[in-house]
Amino acid sequence: MSLLEIEDYRLAFDGFEGRAHVLDGISLSVEAGEAVGVVGETGCGKSVLARSILRLNPAPPARVTGGAIRYDGADILAMDKAALRRMRGSDIGMVFQDPVTYLNPVFTIGQQMAEVLRAHDRRLSRAAIRARSVALLESVRLPEAGALLGRYPHELSGGMRQRVLIAEALAGNPRLLIADEPTTALDVTIQRQVLALIADLVRRMGLTLILISHDLGVIGAICRRIVVMYAGNIVEDAPAEALFGRPLHPYTRGLLAAIPDLKRPDHLPASIPGSIPNLRQPPPGCRFHPRCPLAMPVCAKVKPVLAPAGDEASHRVACHAVATGTALGAAVPSAVPA
Ligand SMILES: Nc1ncnc2c1ncn2[C@@H]1O[C@H](COP(=O)(O)OP(=O)(O)O)[C@@H](O)[C@H]1O
Ligand SMILES: [Mg+2]
Repeated sequence: MSLLEIEDYRLAFDGFEGRAHVLDGISLSVEAGEAVGVVGETGCGKSVLARSILRLNPAPPARVTGGAIRYDGADILAMDKAALRRMRGSDIGMVFQDPVTYLNPVFTIGQQMAEVLRAHDRRLSRAAIRARSVALLESVRLPEAGALLGRYPHELSGGMRQRVLIAEALAGNPRLLIADEPTTALDVTIQRQVLALIADLVRRMGLTLILISHDLGVIGAICRRIVVMYAGNIVEDAPAEALFGRPLHPYTRGLLAAIPDLKRPDHLPASIPGSIPNLRQPPPGCRFHPRCPLAMPVCAKVKPVLAPAGDEASHRVACHAVATGTALGAAVPSAVPA
């Protein structure tokens, strides 16, 4: 049994202008100990998917229209409030993009750590809370953890604040850590340090990781397996080496071509033409077909299924061109130059 099993999961948001079909049949299994990256342009549904795992999408307007999510065999969609509360934090920890939003400016770091720890265990003494807080802050390599407990969020740098939030996410000893764009708000050098910290925590604590980012570079630095999302679908799921070495989906190729090449500063990265569709009226068939350089008539009619392709059984792609061999061998334009 996988630690996390998402099966044909569908979620929509109801609004004045209609229903937006944001997750369109997501199937994804994550094994214990895996580090899986989820990548895709902004608006593809990555955060909605992450929040779905913890049932954090506000309903309404969110509405689950199909599928299942199981954590360690337990049906998350059927859990009552108490079971959900137990799962959030103690089974699954989550780190979000913007550390400022998730730290309360009027309480000290120590007060906020204490609140998180008490939520996990009401019986903790003050001394135990302090000791555990210091240990958690040290585990995310914050110097002078004891003194830090008396500080307010605004006295910390962005990188330090994100470390505090990672420490809070670890407070309940979760097995699964979901990090949603954890470094996007940080400077590049700080970004690397926080990524190195996450990689180190995963190794040291044997965590299972789902790392979400719009940046393939960030994902590639840590994850052994990469899942590519486009407009609410998984279009490719592959071991990292295969995804970087032999990407199959035209969208993945476009994402790769859009990474700036530091060795060729004169060479502008290509961008994928067009933009993600309006999810209230998504294109029929493959949602990527209006932007796809390989689109065939069938692509506008039939939704491609995620199926094994490439050299490894664990490499799966949802693409008619790949399935029929049209994309193989052909000089595939990875993207149209911007
Ligand atoms: N609470 C909400 N109500 C309505 N629409 C939402 C809500 N949250 C997200 N969405 C929509 O879901 C889509 C996917 O958003 P999101 O998961 O945040 O994308 P990503 O994280 O990949 O950038 C977007 O079109 C967004 O507008
Ligand atoms: Mg997001």
